[in-house]
Amino acid sequence: MRSADPARARILPAALRTLLGAIALAGTAVTPIAAAAADLAAGKAAAGACAVCHGANGVSAMTGVPSLAGQTDAFLEWQLVYFRSGARRSDAMDPVAAKLSDADIRNLGAWFASLSPPAPPAGALDGARMAAGVKVIEKYRCGSCHQRNFAGLDQAARIASQREDYLEKSLGDFKSGTRRGGGAAGAMPDVAFPMTHEEIGAVAYYLSRHP
Ligand code: HEC
Ligand code: HEC
Repeated sequence: MRSADPARARILPAALRTLLGAIALAGTAVTPIAAAAADLAAGKAAAGACAVCHGANGVSAMTGVPSLAGQTDAFLEWQLVYFRSGARRSDAMDPVAAKLSDADIRNLGAWFASLSPPAPPAGALDGARMAAGVKVIEKYRCGSCHQRNFAGLDQAARIASQREDYLEKSLGDFKSGTRRGGGAAGAMPDVAFPMTHEEIGAVAYYLSRHP
């Protein structure tokens, strides 16, 4: 979308570009690795190396580390490819991804996608903060790509019950442009750029508590 026709992209209002991005995404159910059957047992074995940071069942208990359990297969695979190619940078992930083969990536994506997503944190909900989160979701139409239940679809990540600190961090990375996504997945910098820090905080609170 972003590179298809720069002249048109300039004059299209952001909301329309977002919508068109969603349509483009819906038509591209692709994984980065050529289709071949994933080997779940091999994925489980390879995932042992991830548990120290991402948690035993792909549910992270560590600040700054995302949960992977129940994430979409295509999103997981693409992120590993981005880390491996250097398109996405992380001191923790770069050395891990550098060692992964295409088959490892396919198997790890399938394995983590097959696990139950994390449960939202226990504790009473702050009604005012939840309502503020809903407003942000409606304003930016997050559900148009991430699904109305935020379970994700293809490259559009699962964002329901992800860690609050990680949601804030990743939205901040998209806003500042340090993280871009690729191809049809390049929608997030446009989405996050106009968001205020208050809006990012509100939507992270809401989504982290959304089952
Ligand atoms: C030393 C700790 C560490 C290890 C080991 C590790 N990771 Fe990560 N991983 C991270 C951190 C930290 C991030 C967040 C990077 C960022 O902030 O952008 C991350 C991000 C990711 C992401 C992106 C998820 C998202 O929601 O954006 C994927 C996919 C991932 N890791 C998969 C793996 C896999 C598969 C393994 C094992 C083969 C693994 N990681 C091992 C620390 C680790
Ligand atoms: C036009 C489609 C689209 C819209 C609208 C959209 N997203 Fe996204 N989002 C994506 C895609 C695609 C990705 C994966 C980007 C990548 O590959 O890095 C993503 C990634 C994310 C991530 C990173 C998840 C992770 O685990 O690393 C977060 C957080 C996120 N979106 C939150 C939101 C929120 C909050 C909104 C509304 C304010 C929103 N998105 C609106 C398409 C969209």
